[in-house]
Amino acid sequence: MPTSSTLEAAAGDVSASFYAEGCEPLAASARLVCIEQNCRARYALSDVLYQCRGCGGLLEVGYDWSLARTDTWKQLWRARRMDNHPLSQSGVWRYREMLPFLDRPQHVVTLREGNTPILSSALAAEYAGLENISFKHQGFNPTGSFKDNGMTAGVAQARRLGKTRVACVSTGNTSASMAAYASAGGLTPVVFLPHGNISFGKLAQALEYGAVTLEVQANFDQILALVRELCERADVYLLNSINPFRIEGQKSMAIELLDQLDWSVPDWVVMPGGNLGNASAFGKGLIEARNLGLIPRLPRIAVVQASGSAPFYEFLKDTQKGFHAVAHPETLATAIRIGDPVSWPKAMRIIQETGGVAEVATEQEIGDAKAVIGKSGIGCEPASAATLAGIRKLVERGVIGRGENVLAVLTGNVLKDPDYIYRYHTGALKTPQGPPIVGRFANCPRVVANDAAAILKILERA
Ligand code: F0G
Repeated sequence: MPTSSTLEAAAGDVSASFYAEGCEPLAASARLVCIEQNCRARYALSDVLYQCRGCGGLLEVGYDWSLARTDTWKQLWRARRMDNHPLSQSGVWRYREMLPFLDRPQHVVTLREGNTPILSSALAAEYAGLENISFKHQGFNPTGSFKDNGMTAGVAQARRLGKTRVACVSTGNTSASMAAYASAGGLTPVVFLPHGNISFGKLAQALEYGAVTLEVQANFDQILALVRELCERADVYLLNSINPFRIEGQKSMAIELLDQLDWSVPDWVVMPGGNLGNASAFGKGLIEARNLGLIPRLPRIAVVQASGSAPFYEFLKDTQKGFHAVAHPETLATAIRIGDPVSWPKAMRIIQETGGVAEVATEQEIGDAKAVIGKSGIGCEPASAATLAGIRKLVERGVIGRGENVLAVLTGNVLKDPDYIYRYHTGALKTPQGPPIVGRFANCPRVVANDAAAILKILERA
């Protein structure tokens, strides 16, 4: 069913020149490829697969990049910013030569995702002990999180495969995004949520965007296993970040970032880590851009996890010990309350290739960093603030230099979790273990009488 967000209804006809001239051989080379070096099995894009049939490894979309003729791409992408076609206005599909897996633009559902700003904050820089810091704020996306970058691509693939139902388990943002894009594209969204551990704002989005919404009495990791089984049995297309097409869309964040920076490269890109799809996607985009000669070098990537849900951080401390899931993950940053991240093998490669690190932040550190980002006039949801909390610690430890160029990815909008905000500022926020969080930057509202003189007294001290 075409809707105003699908391209059947869009102005203009780009079918003839969907990709830049000469891109057809590159697009034709797209395959699903197993990421395991000793396997590298290849599959057609039409195979509905989330893991390698041979070795069980994760899959990615691979291209024969030697066929890419990139000389016109940077100018073309810049010119598209002036173009009113929906594909050009999308901050994902504007860069479609970097993700040329589609054969027909009509499969795309776009809500004009991406196009997110880079914002700097002197206050946050001072807090982190840096000269400068800037934030790529993915919360400016249509459904308020970075998931939209990936979802436009995942839903396009679902439509190309002729699927009518899509599903995900989510800590909230994936479900909000999938619900919106699936409904906009005429598909039925089915979302599975960990009952009691998702912010109200995100749950509300799933309902409003028309998803069949199931709150399961289990945690994210347990529900993912369940949903994978259900998807197979009920022919539903899985749109968690294990889906390689979602990663393709999400990697456009890195390309848009570089375009906005006129192709200069930050020293560090820092992001929160949950299921580790984002780090994998960002890294894939950066590495491909470097390999294509669009940038001369890679930034270092730092992944920050919440201290009660930090299996990747623990793993990187000593990889010899192997990867161990956290059985009962806990954090008030519910978006990253994940103990068994599916994409850790992809993320590990990104850390290795970029000389990256992982860091961990406590509930207190996340809460305070979030308030600092808020007081900068920027604002974000709790998981996003793990970045600033982690950066502060990495600067303290001398891993990040004071004068280095640091870019943090804020993954979700400030309004995603208003309950957390209210509790922090009123002193009612408690850690999952019970002790309260002391709001060092609390800004408590005051109830006042309807009395101008009394209010003036307060204002004198403001
Ligand atoms: N920040 C926010 C706001 C998120 O919603 C998530 C993940 C992350 C960071 C971590 O990203 O999983 O790619 O490492 N949210 C998922 C969800 C799991 O279901 O919305 P990741």
